[in-house]
Amino acid sequence: MKDIFTAPFVEEMKNTTANMYRMGWDERNGGNISVLLDNDEVSEYLDLNHVIRTIPTGFDATALIGKIFIVTGTGKYFKNVIDDPETNLGIIRIAEDGTTAELLWGYKDGGKFTSELPAHLMSHITRLEVNPNNRVIMHTHPTNLLAMTYVHTLDEREFTRTLWRMCTECIVVFPDGLNVLPWMVCGTNEIGEATAEKMTTARLVVWGQHGIYGAGADLDETFGLIETAEKAAELYLKIAHLPRVNTISDEQLHLLEDHFKVKAREGWLD
Ligand code: 13P
Ligand code: ZN
Repeated sequence: MKDIFTAPFVEEMKNTTANMYRMGWDERNGGNISVLLDNDEVSEYLDLNHVIRTIPTGFDATALIGKIFIVTGTGKYFKNVIDDPETNLGIIRIAEDGTTAELLWGYKDGGKFTSELPAHLMSHITRLEVNPNNRVIMHTHPTNLLAMTYVHTLDEREFTRTLWRMCTECIVVFPDGLNVLPWMVCGTNEIGEATAEKMTTARLVVWGQHGIYGAGADLDETFGLIETAEKAAELYLKIAHLPRVNTISDEQLHLLEDHFKVKAREGWLD
């Protein structure tokens, strides 16, 4: 058996959470990440027959039975993951009943997975239907995107169009745009269902006055997706109060579509 502390999936979680903390997105216990792992790869590091304990999830994830995820712990600080991954992270498998998580490693202090597990697992189910290569769901509190939800309309098309116009490459990175949920109580099955539903048409879902969800094939790509939207929101907040002299037009956004062979969300460009 290889040493779990050297596993690439543990290393990547350590590096990504440290990065996100440094970006200022994940104050205190803010943010959570789940990554779908390859069962064969995990079996090189852990005895898959050894379940440390079982934890009820409180919702049905039948579509994910037998699947293994590495998930940040609830109440845990991203800044601490790098020094103590075994306390701040856990590896869970969805049990045969679809509503129980089997703990295979981690949450060493008796803790459990993020309170946002419903939004994570329901979003995994949705994104896997759209793209079988999707492995990551990431939730965080990026400062500028969050600020933008207080001063910009939450209309999804308008929110997206504002961001597409802030940096030339935004439309290339997120041609599907962003979907937006109004403020809701977090940590509930309701917000989980609403988020997953929004994930059918976009890989980014903004939670009004709270943060954002991103989905992607790996941690780097998902981080980069959120980072790009956050950079655009920062630019927006720097210029929103100033007279606009120049902009990126819809005609220019169409030129980017042609050049980079991407298709913007249907009807979101004039
Ligand atoms: P957890 O500590 O349960 O992951 O919650 C953090 C958070 O960002 C809630 O939305
Ligand atoms: Zn949050």
